[in-house]
Amino acid sequence: VSWVRQHDLHILTVGSYTYTSDQRFKSLHLEGTTDWTLKIQYTKKHDTGVYECQISTEPKLSLNYTLNVVVAKAVIIEGEKLYIQSGSIINLTCVITDNKDPPIYVFWYHNGKMINYETDKGIEVVTDKGPTTVSKLRIENAKSSNSGNYSCSPSYSDSANITVHVLDGDKPAAMHHGQHTSQGSTITCNVVLLLITWFLAHTLCLETRYNLSGVWNQPS
Ligand SMILES: *[C@@H]1O[C@H](CO)[C@@H](O)[C@H](O)[C@H]1NC(C)=O
Ligand SMILES: *[C@@H]1O[C@H](CO)[C@@H](O)[C@H](O)[C@H]1NC(C)=O
Ligand SMILES: *[C@@H]1O[C@H](CO)[C@@H](O)[C@H](O)[C@H]1NC(C)=O
Ligand SMILES: *[C@@H]1O[C@H](CO)[C@@H](O)[C@H](O)[C@H]1NC(C)=O
Repeated sequence: VSWVRQHDLHILTVGSYTYTSDQRFKSLHLEGTTDWTLKIQYTKKHDTGVYECQISTEPKLSLNYTLNVVVAKAVIIEGEKLYIQSGSIINLTCVITDNKDPPIYVFWYHNGKMINYETDKGIEVVTDKGPTTVSKLRIENAKSSNSGNYSCSPSYSDSANITVHVLDGDKPAAMHHGQHTSQGSTITCNVVLLLITWFLAHTLCLETRYNLSGVWNQPS
């Protein structure tokens, strides 16, 4: 029994022997049975096509099988880049479509390091598996150390990535969100300084007036 790939008429296996140089193809046969199974490991999109099982009898007997390889896709819906103020929440959403079965796992990486279980650093990953799997990464109180490359890497799918820039709080935009930033404390300080200045000016003014009146009222 041989297995032949129809699109290029390549002979893949002959008996239990793998004829092609591509070692992903194996022929499985259990002694004493009439089953000859073609096994393809690490399937790729281009493995899609018709495979023919042939028996070298005269006349030749054969059967065609159509294989359709579906490639799961991962997409991070926030896009390629995300700019976020320090102190706010980083929300990343990875959507995995075109799976036949939901992925076994979805791992998130930050600059190459897996971060799924770093809950002590305020990182939370929630994955809802289904025909469309959605995995959410949430980082509370973003710091500049949270900047960098994030990738969402499901089993059975290419990964998706995004670059996150956590901006320091000294941007005017931070004021509009009413966040406690260094800009906020600078303003507070300035108000205190103004008050001190006003107080000093007022006091000096009073003292001057007192001195003046003191001079004015001095008995001659
Ligand atoms: C299998 O398909 C090929 C073309 O893809 C065709 O030439 C061949 O006759 C088919 N064999 C059977 C048994 O249908
Ligand atoms: C990162 O994602 C972008 C699309 O968002 C893609 O063009 C790029 O090839 C990806 N880079 C890597 C290293 O996966
Ligand atoms: C992040 O997601 C949560 C829900 O998971 C939502 O309440 C919050 O508004 C989101 N924040 C941003 C900045 O998108
Ligand atoms: C993020 O990934 C891109 C390409 O995927 C690379 O050029 C860049 O240096 C990476 N940045 C960091 C901080 O790892």
